[in-house]
Amino acid sequence: MCGIIAYTGNQTVVPILLDGLKRLEYRGYDSAGISVISRKKLKTIKSAGKLNQLEVKIDNSIASHCGIGHTRWATHGAPTDENAHPHNDSHHRFAIAHNGIIENVDALKNSLANDVIFTSETDSEVIAHLLTQQDGTLADAVRAVVSQIVGTYGLAVIDQQNPNTIVVARNGSPVLLGIGDGEMFAASDMAALIRHTNQVVHLDDGEIAELSPDGFKVMRMDASVANKKAITLNAQFAHYDRGGHPHYLYREILDQPDTVTQTLSGRLDERFSTAHLGGLNFEARDLIGIKRITILGCGSALYAGMAGAHMIETLARIPVRAEAAAEFRYRNPVIEQDTLYIVVSQSGETFDTLAALREVRRKGGFVLGIVNSVGSTIAREVDGGIYMHAGPEVSVASTKGYTSMLVCFSLLALLLGRSRDLSPQRGTSIINELKALSENIQRVLTLEPSIKKIANKYKKSSSAFFIGRTNGFPIALEGAQKLKEISYIHAEAYPASELKHGPLALVTKDTPCFVVLPNDELLQKTISSMEEINARGAPVIAVASTHNKEESTRIHKLAKAVIQVPDAGALTQPVLLGVVFQLLAYHSAVGLGRDVDQPRNLAKSVTVE
Ligand code: G6P
Repeated sequence: MCGIIAYTGNQTVVPILLDGLKRLEYRGYDSAGISVISRKKLKTIKSAGKLNQLEVKIDNSIASHCGIGHTRWATHGAPTDENAHPHNDSHHRFAIAHNGIIENVDALKNSLANDVIFTSETDSEVIAHLLTQQDGTLADAVRAVVSQIVGTYGLAVIDQQNPNTIVVARNGSPVLLGIGDGEMFAASDMAALIRHTNQVVHLDDGEIAELSPDGFKVMRMDASVANKKAITLNAQFAHYDRGGHPHYLYREILDQPDTVTQTLSGRLDERFSTAHLGGLNFEARDLIGIKRITILGCGSALYAGMAGAHMIETLARIPVRAEAAAEFRYRNPVIEQDTLYIVVSQSGETFDTLAALREVRRKGGFVLGIVNSVGSTIAREVDGGIYMHAGPEVSVASTKGYTSMLVCFSLLALLLGRSRDLSPQRGTSIINELKALSENIQRVLTLEPSIKKIANKYKKSSSAFFIGRTNGFPIALEGAQKLKEISYIHAEAYPASELKHGPLALVTKDTPCFVVLPNDELLQKTISSMEEINARGAPVIAVASTHNKEESTRIHKLAKAVIQVPDAGALTQPVLLGVVFQLLAYHSAVGLGRDVDQPRNLAKSVTVE
């Protein structure tokens, strides 16, 4: 999705903007541009395509100390040079970079004089033209314009007549201020700031900030001053690096033994055989009062939620369902006092998840967040939560973020279970299972050569199936999601029992079927599904946890290939089986020469509806 970087200070601005744009690349984009004020003139340079196409047009040494940059993910209008941001007014006084969507763009255009010439097809350009009609300071002008906008914006503006000032504004699309020494930054994402500072201020919706090299002032829509405190983020620049690996995705897969350790750190309470989750804002009494749980998320976060639902139902015997956040918010959901709502999001900025959260809170429901990005909008708006502590995830497809979501759900399931009927002995064995998780992921990672072989064998397939039962089904969904996202192989996940109700018609010798076989009470039944597939001549690839000799022999007989992960226990099996599918998708994508970290049409953080 679109990204913004802005800088005012003593340094030459162009390299800072270009570096910031590079850091934002991972979010997905199709064009980019910058505007700077140099020798009292506004210069705007933009280009469709990747950043290198912009870089060749720019003279790095332009004398300027104030500017804005933008990566665009096309919504209104194709990805062309003209539609790239920033946009200028006709007199080249203002430059604006906008994330979000202006719903009343037609009405706003009609309010302008007839002779105003638009040079792009974007909704955003109207902001630049509207600014020319305002009086007062730049902040006054921006306030007057954004008060007319119906829709969402994360906005950065510079003005050739105020050469050291940047004004930013937020409604529904993130904006962070970065505080430097005699310099100020603003960005839509911490990734663009981390090289320069970890002192940040998150703007809230309806806030406008004026930045100069000396500092910042945050105001509300009624022009009153908001006293905002900076927070120190413990993200490090090194986290945004590939760490010597060819892709971020690969690094993030390999990082998982460490990231799960961080997620678990300080949260296992061995004395009481339970989990310690300080951020829930719950009393023990509140835990007992929970009658139902609804989990909401999008994409991989939804699939993690589905796996989490099984964990909680199994350990705590509370009915849980997981639902796509956008579906939930649009069906006028009934919100109940004794239902616990959990929103799950790596970025903490996914628009549909945020909107679902707001819908629940507006109706008086209590919402917990499972969120990775510290200080993100969702993290700030929930009633309590569990931070994932997985570190920044850069590659568009989620891996370590997804895994840490599962770990958070394991902790929550343990806590809820122990507040009900789960015995201390079972609690202790779960703690031991979680303590062994990092090492067990390490073991799965050693299976990479055989997984790579399988990936290369089937990478030319035009379609693949992933099947599993109950616990195994969300793993199948996420496995199919990973494969289609980054390799573009069409992949479908089904409950194993559903195969014969339709999809079996598509199973041929050319459709590899990946069968998820957690070691649970349904194992025999899933093995029977392998027989069904085998009978149609399709290659079966089994990903199994069982090490039982008899079962293994059966599985080997029916499968063309078997990947056997450690039989680590019921709660952590989804993580270990999931890592196999991450490596499978990665090697399929690399084998096919795909853009692994920035798959076509996808964005890391979907901040629009
Ligand atoms: C996008 C990403 C997915 C991700 C989903 C939810 O669609 O491409 O990988 O799972 O958003 O993101 P979140 O940040 O809310 O977990």
